[in-house]
Amino acid sequence: TKLDMELAAIEKGGYDHFMLKEIFEQPQTIYDCLRGRLDAQAGTITMSGIQKYAEQISNANRIIIVACGTSWHAGLVAEYIFEELCRINVEVEYASEFRYRNPVINKGDVIIAISQSGETADTLVAIENAKAKGALILGVVNVVGSSIARISDAGAYTHAGPEIGVASTKAFTAQLAVLTMIALKIGYEKGTLDHDRYMQLLQELDAIPDKVTEVLRSKDNIQAIAEKYKDAKDALYLGRGYNFPVALEGALKLKEISYIHAEGYPAAEMKHGPIALVDEDLPVVFVATKDSYHEKVVSNMQEIKARKGKIIAVINEGDEQSSALAQDIITIPQADEIVAPMLSAIPMQLLAYYIGIAKGYDVDKPRNLAKSVTVE
Ligand code: G6P
Repeated sequence: TKLDMELAAIEKGGYDHFMLKEIFEQPQTIYDCLRGRLDAQAGTITMSGIQKYAEQISNANRIIIVACGTSWHAGLVAEYIFEELCRINVEVEYASEFRYRNPVINKGDVIIAISQSGETADTLVAIENAKAKGALILGVVNVVGSSIARISDAGAYTHAGPEIGVASTKAFTAQLAVLTMIALKIGYEKGTLDHDRYMQLLQELDAIPDKVTEVLRSKDNIQAIAEKYKDAKDALYLGRGYNFPVALEGALKLKEISYIHAEGYPAAEMKHGPIALVDEDLPVVFVATKDSYHEKVVSNMQEIKARKGKIIAVINEGDEQSSALAQDIITIPQADEIVAPMLSAIPMQLLAYYIGIAKGYDVDKPRNLAKSVTVE
């Protein structure tokens, strides 16, 4: 009815779709997630659920992260961050695989379950099994009071608010914010993260909401790029290090929303297969912000350019070397590599969104997908 349509329009807050609204909410949702926890001046991170088990987490021999979909990608970023800052061995598992094999779980292992909905069946059963074997279960969940939140021993909510768009956007960046805070807290308490670096990273994290606002200003540029590539049959997404999971997430977003076949790969791994696909019709999205992997990524870009692939590069302002290699560039603000994925993820979301709408698809409800997968 007309009333339903008007109500729906109000809920979208002036945006054409929930997905776009949720992408644009990210400065606020990340801020909300940090608020009351991070105090960059005082040098504190307050997370009561985590605090209670901080010693056990610090002493853990390993952390196993279980999740599905976009949440699994957040887990992969967390793997890099935890290993770097906390020097704890991390494994990231697809919940569906983990639950059905016979995983080795020792008492004292820490499991982190990441889930927007808190209801994903595979993730839920995976942690039930691990709990029965004596692991400590931490939940990084968006929906308050959801099943995964309830079964966890402790955890931290992402506070991103309801996510309606089926393809996850703001929940992902909030997951990264929470996981980064946990890693900073544990690393500092454990002593694997020194005071200066800790303080510096708190500032970096604190600056993220404003930098996200800056990234969102590229929307028209990203829309124009989307128009250029909307008829592509395939796309490749490449990144290294902290940006490798972002490349996976970019490819997933494109598949979900625009139905274009896309693959995400660690940039160096492409030479073991995907490079055979490269020709002048293949768009290759590089997530290539300035970090400790940057030189290596640039040489991967050269390899793609030499084979006439069309490079779309997400880079930092002033990166002449990369922009000279790319057909199209999306610039985002410089940030420490630990927090950079919260910025580089956003052009991935916008690119998929604008290609999806250019093709006339229902981006909020992509075919065959469900917001929360409560069956296996
Ligand atoms: C579904 C959704 C994805 C989500 C995944 C995991 O596939 O469509 O957007 O990433 O489930 O969901 P969860 O709620 O556990 O994060």
